[in-house]
Amino acid sequence: MASFKKQIPEFKKSINHHLNMILYESDQSSKELSEAMEYSVMNGGKRIRPMMMLASAMAIDVETEHIIPFATAIELLHSFSLIHDDLPCMDDDSIRRGQPTTHIKFGEATATLAADSLQSLAFESMAKAKFPKSKSAQLDLISMIAKSIGSAGMAGGQSLDLDSENKKLDPSSVENIYMLKTGKLLKAAILAPTYFRKLNNKEVLALISFSESIGVAFQIQDDLIEAEGDEDMIGKSVVSDKSKNKAAYPILFGINESKNRVKELYESACDSLKVFGESSNSLREMAEIIIHRKL
Ligand code: IPE
Ligand code: IPE
Ligand code: MG
Ligand code: MG
Repeated sequence: MASFKKQIPEFKKSINHHLNMILYESDQSSKELSEAMEYSVMNGGKRIRPMMMLASAMAIDVETEHIIPFATAIELLHSFSLIHDDLPCMDDDSIRRGQPTTHIKFGEATATLAADSLQSLAFESMAKAKFPKSKSAQLDLISMIAKSIGSAGMAGGQSLDLDSENKKLDPSSVENIYMLKTGKLLKAAILAPTYFRKLNNKEVLALISFSESIGVAFQIQDDLIEAEGDEDMIGKSVVSDKSKNKAAYPILFGINESKNRVKELYESACDSLKVFGESSNSLREMAEIIIHRKL
């Protein structure tokens, strides 16, 4: 079987095509709002969450074709979270993906409404998606995704993250924030294919354990990129965490400790996949991409 990495450009093209389509076909009443939505989604994200969902589908032998609408929706949710994350009342950042953040380009009110609309569009599209299993399985999947971004998931983590400024947290408290603010959406992406094909308990637990380790590793790596990177190269601020005295792993525990922890989490993530054997190489490859990324 061709490596998953080699298939990523094709999958990315397909996700970008579906994102474009869904935005184009969505009902709009304000040109400004629809431009802000498109600007926030179609400006060069890495599409890591959709790729994770597709990698997970391949690992458990679910048709990627069934997954595409949900992988597209998860990227809309990610885009909405980034608009909010950059707002002055949150991280107050003015560049993302090398371009002005949505509120800098369109103003705070339009940015907030664009995020609201992307969230709504994601759920509308998941509810309308063709689903090869029962309607109740589709509802369970949508409700799992809803929960992952809510007060017990991403939004809860973002709240703790803001509250952590100027605090000296211990490593497990920082990891809990990372698991929530970043890990929960990645976990939802990895678990989504299990709603298309019944796995045994051991297999579900393996995917849960993989996603929990790789979710935290993803965020520590994100902080390392910010701590070590160059603004032109990474396309976002390199002083955002530092200037707000955020409870970011490299700031609190140092660069070396952060790198060691990423490696440890990567190894434990890969270890969890043993139960699937070689079929889970797609997820291993994604884990590798996540820990080696420089962007
Ligand atoms: C950045 O996510 C925000 C975090 C949750 C750490 P990505 O690094 O996936 O951002 P894009 O979509 O590729 O810009
Ligand atoms: C972003 O975390 C998490 C979410 C958007 C949910 P960060 O604030 O650390 O990510 P960047 O550095 O702005 O991309
Ligand atoms: Mg943030
Ligand atoms: Mg931020």
